[in-house]
Amino acid sequence: MTQPFPDTMDFGGYNAPSRVECEVYDLVVEGRLPEEINGTWYQSVPDPQYPPMLGNDTFISGDGMVRMLRFENGHVDLKQRYIQSERWKNERLARRSLYGLYRNPYTDDPAVRGKSRSVYNTTPIFHGGRLLALKEDGRAMELDPRTLATLGEWDYRGRLRSQTMTAHTRPDPETGELYFFGYEAGGLATRDVAYCIADRDGELRREEWFQAPYCASMHDFAVTREHAIFPVFPTTADLDRLKAGGVHWVWEPRKDSFVGIMPREGSVKDLRWFRGPARSAYHFMNAFTEGSRVHLDFGCSKVNPFPFIQHASGIRVDPREAGGRFVRWTFDLSKPGESWEETVLGPAGDMPRAAAKDAMRDYEVGYYQTFDPAAGRPLVAGPVGAGFNTILRLEVRSGRLNRFSPGGEATVQEHFHVPSKAPGHEGYLGFIVDRHDQHLSEVFLLEAGGIERGPIARIKVPLRLRVGVHGNWVPGEAL
Ligand SMILES: [Fe+2]
Repeated sequence: MTQPFPDTMDFGGYNAPSRVECEVYDLVVEGRLPEEINGTWYQSVPDPQYPPMLGNDTFISGDGMVRMLRFENGHVDLKQRYIQSERWKNERLARRSLYGLYRNPYTDDPAVRGKSRSVYNTTPIFHGGRLLALKEDGRAMELDPRTLATLGEWDYRGRLRSQTMTAHTRPDPETGELYFFGYEAGGLATRDVAYCIADRDGELRREEWFQAPYCASMHDFAVTREHAIFPVFPTTADLDRLKAGGVHWVWEPRKDSFVGIMPREGSVKDLRWFRGPARSAYHFMNAFTEGSRVHLDFGCSKVNPFPFIQHASGIRVDPREAGGRFVRWTFDLSKPGESWEETVLGPAGDMPRAAAKDAMRDYEVGYYQTFDPAAGRPLVAGPVGAGFNTILRLEVRSGRLNRFSPGGEATVQEHFHVPSKAPGHEGYLGFIVDRHDQHLSEVFLLEAGGIERGPIARIKVPLRLRVGVHGNWVPGEAL
C-alpha cells in the first residue's frame, strides 16, 4: 500500500504529486486560436511515483513526466506520460521509492546501488529529428515525439564522453547547431565540464573538456554568434559530503562567482575567467557580442533561492529579500582585469526567454516572470516556494515593461513563445495558469506584442497539471 506523501512545500497543496498519465482529445477553447499556431509544446514535469524513501525530498527529484499540447487547425490535444527510466521501472516493480537524497547515490537502497538514477525531468528539446528529455545529472532520454513512448538513452551513438548533458542547451537559429555542455562530466562532484556542439543533423561534432574553478551547479550557459559563456556561481558539491550521506548542494557565499568566456569555435584553452562576488542565477535570457564586448542578460540574486539548498546551508532568505534584479553583465575583452559591468534592466524574476530567432544576437524584446504582490498573495507552486504570478515583456534597450497577471488565486508556469509568420507580428506567448482555488489548470495564449490586453484564447484543462519545469515549442513543420 502506498503511503501518503509528506505534507511539505514540495508535496502538499498545489504541489501534490499528480501521477496522472492521460490523454484529452480536443480541449475546450474559449476565444480564438489563430490558424497559424501549428505545432507542439512539450513540457517536463517532475512528478514522483512514490513518497520519498527518506521521509522528505525536493520537488525537482520527482520522476520525469512529459506533457504535450498539440495545436493543429484551431484544436488542442493534451497528452502526458511518464518517462520509463531505469529508476522509474525499478521503483514501479518494488512499489516504493528506492532512491535516497537528491543526487546522492550513496543514500540509495542497496537493491539499486550502481544503477541509473536519472529522472530526465527538466527540459524536453527537439533537435536532429529527436525528442530528448534532459536533466543535468545524466545523459538525454529519447522519446517518441508523437506517443511520448520512452525509446532509450541517447549518447550521440556512443560518441559523447561526458556522463552528463545540461538541460539548458543553446540552439543556433542560423546554423541549426546545438551548443550544450555537461558539468560533473567526469563523475560526481568533479570539476570537469564538457563543452559540446552537435551539428544540424544531431551528430556530435565537437566535445572538449575543461576544469571549472570549483564544482558548481552550472545549470545554464550562454552562447553568442562569437562566444561561449560559462557562469559559475557558488552553489557547490563535495564528494566527501556525498559519501558521508550528505546533500549534493550547499550555498557557499564566501566563494567568488566566475564567468569563463571563450571564442565559441576556439579552444577551451582560450577561456578567460572573470571574477566577482557570490551571486546566484539559474537561467540566462540571451547573450550577444558587440565588438570587444560580450553582454549577458538574466535574473540575478544574491542568494540561492531553493529552500532545500538554503536549509542545507543553514540559512533562510525569502526570495523577495534576496536582492534580485534582472540585469545585463557586460564583459570587455579588450580590457585587462577580472571584473564586469552591471546594468539593471528590470525587477527580479526568472524563466527568461527571447524568441528563438533572436538567440545569440543583439535583440529588442525578451519575456520573463516575476512575483507581483499587487497581483495576488504568494501561493506555493513549484520547487522554489511562491510561484510567479506575472509575465513581463521587457524591451531590453529602453527598459520599457509590459505586464500580464491572471489575477485571483493563480500562479503561472513557464511561458513558451510561438513565432508568427505575419510581418511585424511578435508572435504569441502560451503558459499554464494554475488555478489554486479550483485545483484546475488553464492554458492562456496571448499576443506577445500586447500581453497587457490579456488572453486571446483560454484552453480549459479538466484537471490540475502539476507545475512543470521547462518546455519548448516545436513547429509542426519540424515534426
Ligand atoms: Fe532550468
